[in-house]
Amino acid sequence: MRFDVITLLPELVEAVTQVGVTGRAAKRDLIELHCWNPRDYTEDVHRTVDDRPYGGGPGMVMKADCLLKTIRDVKQTVTDQGRQAKVIYLSPQGRQINQSLMREVSQTEGIILLCGRYEGIDERVVQLEVDEEWSLGDYVLSGGELAAMVVIDGVTRLLPSVLGHDDSAEQDSFTENLLDCEHYTRPETLEGIAVPEVLTSGDHKAIARWRRKQSLGRTFKRRPDLLKTEENDMALSKQDQALLNEYLKDN
Ligand SMILES: C[S@@+](CC[C@H](N)C(=O)[O-])C[C@H]1O[C@@H](n2cnc3c(N)ncnc32)[C@H](O)[C@@H]1O
Repeated sequence: MRFDVITLLPELVEAVTQVGVTGRAAKRDLIELHCWNPRDYTEDVHRTVDDRPYGGGPGMVMKADCLLKTIRDVKQTVTDQGRQAKVIYLSPQGRQINQSLMREVSQTEGIILLCGRYEGIDERVVQLEVDEEWSLGDYVLSGGELAAMVVIDGVTRLLPSVLGHDDSAEQDSFTENLLDCEHYTRPETLEGIAVPEVLTSGDHKAIARWRRKQSLGRTFKRRPDLLKTEENDMALSKQDQALLNEYLKDN
């Protein structure tokens, strides 16, 4: 999987290849990260990447010329390698990034992530070269780099053989629209609080049932919206509904 990131701060984004799950994936060549700096595509002595906004007002806007040259160079490189990749502008005004989007990306060959700075980028760049806009959430950051790093991290951990246990991403929150169950490790009792008995029973069937019940209960209490479909307020199988009822009786 190849990530191409267009950014004025490559050193920030490149940190993902140094540490943690993404760092290990990069070292094992399971992901490739290429950063492209629009400053390298400027032609004036000051290497200017921003300018004042038409119409006045505070802040600066990222200039179109160097951005277009950068995006087109990235696209050409990707095409020359016989690959395809969408251009995504990270923007607070875009579609909100979620786990199913991460999953979609993990099934592609690569993605081009465009990070804005200042007040954002000249809108004509979006019109000419951007396929989609994606947002981290309803808040404004100083740049798109953290959002790009979120995409790289979230996608990488879904790639085959990146995580230690092949199925560990399958048990994460938002798989099957459920939150993950709670987790415990040693000691068995901590400040008077014992680990739920079933988890030390060795009964794998009972453990799986308990985990499913906790997932259903947590989702119902914390994120009931995840259980809704367009047709139903609660789209659960009979078995899950029974487990949820059991959870609600106990909690
Ligand atoms: C200060 S912001 C510009 C915000 C813009 N003036 C607005 O209000 O929509 C600078 C850059 O940070 C990035 N950014 C800010 N918030 C973001 C978010 N919630 N999700 C993704 N990218 C974000 C975008 O790339 C944006 O161009």
